[in-house]
Amino acid sequence: DWTMAAFRAQAIAGIRAQVGQGRVICGLSGGVDSSVAAVLIHEAIGDQLTCVFVDHGLMRAGEADEVVTLFRDHYNIPLVHRDASGLFLGELAGVTDPEAKRKTIGRLFIDVFEAEAKAVGGADFLAQGTLYPDVIESVSFHGGPSVTIKSHHNVGGLPERMNMKLVEPLRELFKDEVRDLGRELGLPERLVGRHPFPGPGLAIRIPGEITKEKCDLLRKVDAIYLEEIRNAGLYDAIWQAFAVLLPVRTVGVMGDARTYDHACALRAVTSTDGMTADVFPFDHALLGRMATRIINEVRGINRVTYDITSKPPGTIEWE
Ligand code: XMP
Repeated sequence: DWTMAAFRAQAIAGIRAQVGQGRVICGLSGGVDSSVAAVLIHEAIGDQLTCVFVDHGLMRAGEADEVVTLFRDHYNIPLVHRDASGLFLGELAGVTDPEAKRKTIGRLFIDVFEAEAKAVGGADFLAQGTLYPDVIESVSFHGGPSVTIKSHHNVGGLPERMNMKLVEPLRELFKDEVRDLGRELGLPERLVGRHPFPGPGLAIRIPGEITKEKCDLLRKVDAIYLEEIRNAGLYDAIWQAFAVLLPVRTVGVMGDARTYDHACALRAVTSTDGMTADVFPFDHALLGRMATRIINEVRGINRVTYDITSKPPGTIEWE
């Protein structure tokens, strides 16, 4: 695709011009956006770049290892792996309001990055895989008055004290364009085709209070759900699929015994840019098999629901 080749060359020139001889740190999340940004910036400035993967304890099953392996072993890009799960889960204890969760996570990310920037001997720039829809959704909604629907943790600039400038080479791109750019850069299809995963991670898929136990429960449900979707050959037909752990327990029956356990919701949507979305029309028999597997295999879950809300009026994530 000559357009993406041209964009790549232009973006690399732009990064070099902006950064000069400066040092850059880039937050990796394991998602497509930050990965593409990191590989692009690495191509532009080589080892002036250090990547930082902050594990906030809100990642999905196996996610942290996948990122670290890909970047260190495959790309040979310097990567700091920081396990900050204790810090994040500690600060999130008792926080139930969705915006308060997002702001807490955003603040901690900045704290951790600031520390890592110092650790690499002072970085001048912070790189982020911010996309065009992230930029506009944080500012206004459907052209209306300026109302914040959700504070995306990676948008909105940095506190003055950080004394770092932002490098955001994907700021003008939509998701499908970022995927094309990733292919252009030779990233593996499994990464390029990955569903989006929000910066605040599982925190915004656990309405109410977040605990490590709830995260563990949700990771199990989510892994089974995604495995079933892959096995059915539907992963690439879906924009995003994930499970939500509901803050409600319901009564059920297992064998002869009464259960009183958590309910969960499954969500799957189609979309081209995340700005609007339609519910994915799963076959009911498949939904039934997913529900049976989840309840049989995940102790602590006894009810499964499917979210049939489009965006708008719903948002894709529950918080
Ligand atoms: P919503 O829930 O607003 O989500 O319909 C639209 C898309 O954005 C993702 N999302 C985020 N991505 N940081 C991110 O990097 C965030 O804070 C964030 N919140 C939502 C969401 O997963 C969906 O793809």
